[in-house]
Amino acid sequence: MTAAPAPDRGAPRERAAGALLAARARTRALTDCVDEHELTAQHSPLMSPLVWDLAHIGNQEELWLLRAVGGQEALRPELDSVYDAFEHPRAVRPSLPLLPPAEAHRYVADVRDRVLDVLGRTPVDGGGPLVEAGFAFGMIAQHEQQHDETMLITHQLRRGPAVLTAAEPPPAAPDAAGLPAEVLVEGGPFTMGTSTEPWALDNERPAHPRFVPSFFIDTLPVSNAAYLRFVEDGGYDEPRWWHPAGWEQVRRHGLAAPLFWRREGTTWVRRRFGVTEEVPPVEPVLHVSWYEAAAWAAWAGRRLPTEAEWEKAARHDPASGRSRRYPWGDADPTPEHANLGQRHLRPAAVGAYARGASPLGVRQLIGDVWEWTASDFLPYPGFRAFPYREYSEVFFGGAHKVLRGGSFAVDPVACRGTFRNWDLPVRRQIFSGFRTARDAEPR
Ligand code: AVJ
Ligand code: FE
Repeated sequence: MTAAPAPDRGAPRERAAGALLAARARTRALTDCVDEHELTAQHSPLMSPLVWDLAHIGNQEELWLLRAVGGQEALRPELDSVYDAFEHPRAVRPSLPLLPPAEAHRYVADVRDRVLDVLGRTPVDGGGPLVEAGFAFGMIAQHEQQHDETMLITHQLRRGPAVLTAAEPPPAAPDAAGLPAEVLVEGGPFTMGTSTEPWALDNERPAHPRFVPSFFIDTLPVSNAAYLRFVEDGGYDEPRWWHPAGWEQVRRHGLAAPLFWRREGTTWVRRRFGVTEEVPPVEPVLHVSWYEAAAWAAWAGRRLPTEAEWEKAARHDPASGRSRRYPWGDADPTPEHANLGQRHLRPAAVGAYARGASPLGVRQLIGDVWEWTASDFLPYPGFRAFPYREYSEVFFGGAHKVLRGGSFAVDPVACRGTFRNWDLPVRRQIFSGFRTARDAEPR
């Protein structure tokens, strides 16, 4: 059981500049495709207006890269409170004195110009933990990409005609039909988390040994076809499958299927980025809450994997005993490995991405849909908040469940075998799905 070697992927400064540039291109694509009114409107009380995300991206970049790293004064001190995510819940953000779209664009561009200067003269070796290997720049590129996923969720909730298009994802691989439904992961220790991944965030650290008893895990994410069998079996009318709080949500809101689904005669259709289409049976189920995922698993006589089980299935190589950066190895993701980065605006069919398989043959752990795990969001032993408590630490506890693996909407810079996402168990507007597991031995 040894840790992955520190990967060498080009000079940190070039990598940071490239990551910041890529994030900005995505931000522009998500904001240039709609008019002023759409940018300032609140499309759902669950989300901020797009123009809030835009200037918040610039404000965080200013705080960390111009002020904390660059030692500069605030460009516009009055903006800090408006764009502080903890001061104002999403529902009230439309009533804040937000920068209008043109001004928000100018602000983020102005910050970026100055940041590239700072990057050029910041030591990325021996300059302290905040800038070591370009960490703060990588953190801010990840932050922007995370908000780009958030903005894509806002686009999905938006009513009105489609404004986004993308190529279709690949179909299932030719061998998909012959894959075993589940694989056995032998009991034993593995290395969870990382101490060497240069841009890993605080909650992924440090690497530590975890003993995981033998378990079986699904080879593939649960598909729409499989989820539909639960729906048609009356799963939403049967309290025994549900966590009490999940059953309460079902009753109160009259839930009967994943978010965005609607029955039309005898078929199920869904709305996806402004287009109504038949629910594709071969795709991983999307837009389910933790409660829905757990209820489906109970109905199927299974359970959600714990976070440690998920990571062991995704990273542990039984042949070498070491933990990989990704299921397929240590190489960064390519379009052959996984459906990431908003390259497609939907998950690929279950059984796609044969080259992305883990050593045991588990597929699509990375990309397509965020996978709910059974676990609460908790710190690893030895956790230290860095560089700010509000990224992770204030969310630790029983309120949030962990999601793993990333969705089609997240960029590779903010997705890896150790990456941890979290949300409330009621949330279903996120790009969430799941796979299931079961004990291999009676416990
Ligand atoms: C890690 C995705 C839960 O979007 O709330 C963005 C990421 N933190 N700005 C979120 C984040 C601060 C965070 N998640
Ligand atoms: Fe943020």
